[in-house]
Amino acid sequence: MSENLKNVTIIGSGTMGNGISHVFAQCGFSVNMMDIKQEALNKAVATIGKNMDRLVAKGSLTEEDKTASLARITTYTDMAEAVKNADLVIEAASENIDLKLNIFRQLDELCPAHCILATNTSSISLTRIGSVTKRPGKVIGMHFMNPVPVMKLVEIINGYATEAEVTSTIYHLSERLGKVPCVVNDYPGFISNRILMPLINEAVLALQEGVAGVTEIDTIMKLGMAHPMGPLQLADFIGLDTCYSIMHVLHMGFGNQKYAPATLLANMVQAGYMGVKSGEGFYKYTPGSKELIVSARFASKQWKI
Ligand code: CAA
Repeated sequence: MSENLKNVTIIGSGTMGNGISHVFAQCGFSVNMMDIKQEALNKAVATIGKNMDRLVAKGSLTEEDKTASLARITTYTDMAEAVKNADLVIEAASENIDLKLNIFRQLDELCPAHCILATNTSSISLTRIGSVTKRPGKVIGMHFMNPVPVMKLVEIINGYATEAEVTSTIYHLSERLGKVPCVVNDYPGFISNRILMPLINEAVLALQEGVAGVTEIDTIMKLGMAHPMGPLQLADFIGLDTCYSIMHVLHMGFGNQKYAPATLLANMVQAGYMGVKSGEGFYKYTPGSKELIVSARFASKQWKI
C-alpha cells in the first residue's frame, strides 16, 4: 500500500537525486537525502530551492509551501543513519554497475526488512541488482526523467523476482506524486532508452559522417518532429558519458552491432566533453546564458547557403 510509505530516502544528490527529492518533499513526504559529500548535499538543497522559486514565480507553489517543502528534506552523509527508518529507498547514484551493486548490498544490510529498494537506473538490469540482495522481491526500477519536477513519466521496471504487490505500491505512489507510471519488464534499456538512445546515437553518426551540421540535425528534429530539444542538445543535457554507457549496455545486452556507440560519441567522452555538466559537448555552455552556441569544433560544419 503506497499510503504506508511515509519515510523516503534518496541516495545521491546529483541532478536526478535532487529532482526526485524535490518532488517527494513537495508532495508532503519526509525525505532523507544522502550523499558522500556535505557540499554536494548543500548544492542540491540550493538547486531545489531555486527550482521551487520558478514554481512560486509562476504561482503554482506558494512561498509557505516552498518553505514547508524544504523543511521536509534532511541531509545525511551517513548511509546507516539515512535509511534506518526508511519505508522506501530510491538510489540515484551514477550509472555505474559496480557502484550500484555495492550500494544495494549495503542497503540490504542497513534498511528495515519491510523497506522497498528502488533504483533510478536508466539501463542496468533490475534482476542483476536484485540478485545482490536478500530481498529481490522488494527491488524495483523507478526511472524518473530529467527535469524530474517537469517530466510526467515514471518508467517502473520489474526484475524477474519483483513481487506484484511492490509493483502496485510503486505504481500508486507514482500517481500520488502527480506522475504517469508505465510498467515494463527488465530488458536492456527497458523501453525509454532502448528507443531514445539509438535515436541520439544515429544523430551523432549523421554528424560524424558529415551529412549535416549540429544546428541542421537539431533543427530538423525539433521543427520537423516537434521534439522539445534536438537529439544532440538532448545528449548534452543528459550527459554524453551517460549516453555512451547506456549505448554500451544495449550493445552488450543485445549483442547486435546496430547498438554500437558512435565513434564520435566515444571520443568526446574520452576527451572530457560531457555536455552541459562539463560546459561543452555539441554546444558550448556559459553559466547563466540560455543561448545555444555550437561548439567551435563543429561550427565549420554548418551549411549556410
Ligand atoms: N524544475 C522545475 N521546473 C523546471 C525545471 C526544473 N528543474 N526545468 C524547467 N522547468 C520549467 C520551467 O519553469 C518552465 O515552466 P513553464 O513553462 O510553466 O513556465 C518549463 O519547465 C520550461 O522551461 P524553460 O522555459 O526554462 O525551457 P524550455 O521551454 O526550453 O523547456 C525542458 C526545458 C522542459 C527541459 C524542455 O526542453 C524539454 O522537455 N526537453 C526534453 C527533456 C527530455 O527529453 N527529458 C528526458 C531525458 S531522458 C532521461 O531523463 C532519462 C534517461 O534515462 C537518460
